[in-house]
Amino acid sequence: MKDSQARTIYLKDYQAPDYLVDHTDLSFELDPHATLVKSKLKIRRNPAVAQANETLPPLWLDGADLELLSVSINGELLPAHRYQQRAGGLSLSTDAPEFELEVHTRIAPEANTSLEGLYLSNGMYCTQCEAEGFRKITFYPDRPDVMSVFTTTIVAPASYPVLLSNGNKVDSGTTEDGRLRVTWEDPFAKPSYLFALVAGDLQHVEDSFTTCSGREVKLQLFTEARNIGKCAHAMTSLKHSMRWDEEVYGREYDLDIFMIVAVDHFNMGAMENKGLNIFNSACVLASPETATDAAFQRIESIVAHEYFHNWSGNRVTCRDWFQLSLKEGFTVFRDAEFSADMNSRAVKRIEDVTLLRTSQFAEDAGPMSHPVRPDSYMEISNFYTLTVYEKGAEVVRMIHTILGPEAFRRGSDLYFERHDGCAVTCEDFVAAMEDANGADLKQFRRWYSQAGTPVLDVEDTYNEALGEYSLTIRQQTPETPGQKGKLPLHIPITVGLLAEDGSPLRLDDAAGQMEVVLHLTEASQNFTFAGIASRPLPSLLRGFSAPVKLRYDYSSAQLQFLMQHDTDPFNRWDACQRLSINSLQTLQQQYRSGEALQQPAALIEGYAAVLDDAALDPALVAKMLALPSAQEIAEQGGEIDAAAIIAARTFARDAIATALAERFLTRYHALEQHKPYSPTAEDIAERSLKNTCLFYLCAAGSADALALAKGQFERGENMTDTAAALAALVEFGTETQAEGFLQAFYQQWQQDTQVVETWFGLQSGSAKFGTLERVQKLIAHPAFEVKNPNKVRAVIAGFAMRNFTQFHRADGSGYTFLADQVIALDKLNPQIAARLVTPLTRWKKYRAQESAQIHAALQKISVSGELSRDLYEVVSKSLE
Ligand code: ARG
Ligand code: ZN
Repeated sequence: MKDSQARTIYLKDYQAPDYLVDHTDLSFELDPHATLVKSKLKIRRNPAVAQANETLPPLWLDGADLELLSVSINGELLPAHRYQQRAGGLSLSTDAPEFELEVHTRIAPEANTSLEGLYLSNGMYCTQCEAEGFRKITFYPDRPDVMSVFTTTIVAPASYPVLLSNGNKVDSGTTEDGRLRVTWEDPFAKPSYLFALVAGDLQHVEDSFTTCSGREVKLQLFTEARNIGKCAHAMTSLKHSMRWDEEVYGREYDLDIFMIVAVDHFNMGAMENKGLNIFNSACVLASPETATDAAFQRIESIVAHEYFHNWSGNRVTCRDWFQLSLKEGFTVFRDAEFSADMNSRAVKRIEDVTLLRTSQFAEDAGPMSHPVRPDSYMEISNFYTLTVYEKGAEVVRMIHTILGPEAFRRGSDLYFERHDGCAVTCEDFVAAMEDANGADLKQFRRWYSQAGTPVLDVEDTYNEALGEYSLTIRQQTPETPGQKGKLPLHIPITVGLLAEDGSPLRLDDAAGQMEVVLHLTEASQNFTFAGIASRPLPSLLRGFSAPVKLRYDYSSAQLQFLMQHDTDPFNRWDACQRLSINSLQTLQQQYRSGEALQQPAALIEGYAAVLDDAALDPALVAKMLALPSAQEIAEQGGEIDAAAIIAARTFARDAIATALAERFLTRYHALEQHKPYSPTAEDIAERSLKNTCLFYLCAAGSADALALAKGQFERGENMTDTAAALAALVEFGTETQAEGFLQAFYQQWQQDTQVVETWFGLQSGSAKFGTLERVQKLIAHPAFEVKNPNKVRAVIAGFAMRNFTQFHRADGSGYTFLADQVIALDKLNPQIAARLVTPLTRWKKYRAQESAQIHAALQKISVSGELSRDLYEVVSKSLE
């Protein structure tokens, strides 16, 4: 793409649509190379923008990669001079404010490797229309503020017995030439991005759910026959989600049928099409033998996420794509609370905050930094980001914290009631929260428009004579591309105070409660607590009450104290994180100044205490004992020195492993499970701590430890334990041993695509084994498919995003490799290419040598030829 072709779209230019589509009647005659699509639209001038005695504006229909066959209005073929085909669509002149438009097009699903629009996955037809994929199916006003009632007829050869679309099946039969024909009708008006079609030779499992008002809903999960045994967990998750949304938000399901389809080739996790959710197989299919605990939990949360969209997204949708976080931020918040209720709340929070700190903070400090509600974009697919999703969810969570749960529920009730059936904005959401409660969120709104991660600096003083304790909190948000001069935000900071004996202090200001939410609204503000008998230790930003970086100068002893005594489990973990980060920073300094690295004594002591605390939830122990990832360490600020990070982290890991070997062994044996696998929070917790112990035991390198891992691997009781054992053997065994175990694993599981993905990821992400040479071999492996995003993510992203050690090899070969892969992928699947380039976008943060190498790799992409709009946007913004 040339600069001149790259068009930026601005929120400030939003205009309501000229025409509305009351009804959309689609018919498909499926064929891999030539699918015929007929669309009949009932169109009417939008009364909201019409003027008296006006000249009618032309009707614009978006379209991409379509072969136009014919256009008719009110049943008559339209002469060629009445319409113009342009890049990106069709413009036609109209002579009446209301008419029926019929357009016939031809498309080739087989040739569609972008996985947007209608495409084939293992011979099955499926669609992905969000955000702008519908325009690859037919000419249409492909924007979310045009909502229409859809009827869809699908005709396909008898080898595609299952033909699905949104809503209820209203007719089916056989055509004269023996093909199957099915018609679906969706009574709820929806934007084109929620349209879906599936056709294939699929099996299904069925269940039912009785809603709170007593309606029976049929639940069906479709998949290829070989996967039919992997549906149970998703089905259970779906029923839990439906119940939870009734209980917590008062939201009832609205159609008589809810379908989920598993698809192997999918760009994202899943899609909330009305009544017909389409899922990446990896996010819906699981069995204990083939899926890890992490996969089980991911499935539960994604099934919930897509189901929750039925209200937060479908019944109330987005006016335009700048408002994406309206549905995504809110829905991520909803699914996170659901997972917290189903499992361990603290562990769920820790996982979400880790993702935010590791990757969202990086995004917000990089060249693609944007507000939760972006002001502009070139390609909307690039804005399905951690900022819109995860930071967006944090923004909703802060509203929940500021208003409290009952008031939040009043706000969400008003939001759904006011805007049901409408396409609205983030502003409408905040206004509903205010109006339902007489609250003032005026300053709070800046969270939607201001990018960057705020930094809070906290200092405290204690006045013994007055018995007063004061916190001084300063906030500051760094500049981001295109945004200077940031304003102070309204930041809720949940705080508790610990007495000298570790007991929580009653806070007079909070009516005797043990914690209080401080409302920071100024650039610098003082908060005083009265009636404090001796100097307390503050527990700040409990539960991570705001997405900020908080700095307070804790000593190692204070952090260890918080790790043992804080009543907030999240902050106990966070104290441990701070202790780890401090130790790792000291080690990095030693490495850089050429000194011998010193034992991280405080950290080892802290870890020992955690392991000795029998009362601590094992899941929390496992989280505390996990050193921050290299990526997370890199996020701590300052110039990134990859070699120093790796040296410090490896040294700390081995020192901990050696010092605490006995404890790890005792704990390992105590946690061995002699019962059938179950993905409950308690069992997952035990397995996670057990496997953490195994990893450290193997890191310490004794033959006994490797024998334990080998035993666990060979018993193969469930994929969680098997994969954890294999990972330890690969990382710490000899190369020959590792080859042998990997071979054996592949032999056993080569028929199962999802396990093969795990197998790829284990290798590409291995610090020791995942060398560039190995990754190149994996790409040449017969099970690798460049057209399958899951395989690309397992191998290429596994290496570039989860293998800090090998990717940052000093000769820079990892960077060049990634550039070459991105260039090749861009021709097939621009969305995936644009995502994969992320590790190269942060070149400015690295030391001079790496920085130059990464920059050169980006440059290589930039001059490689014509880039997709997706990749062009990311690369050009990163080079600025
Ligand atoms: N709405 C989907 C979800 O979050 C994601 C769709 C992603 N589409 C895309 N083009 N990136 O549930
Ligand atoms: Zn979503």
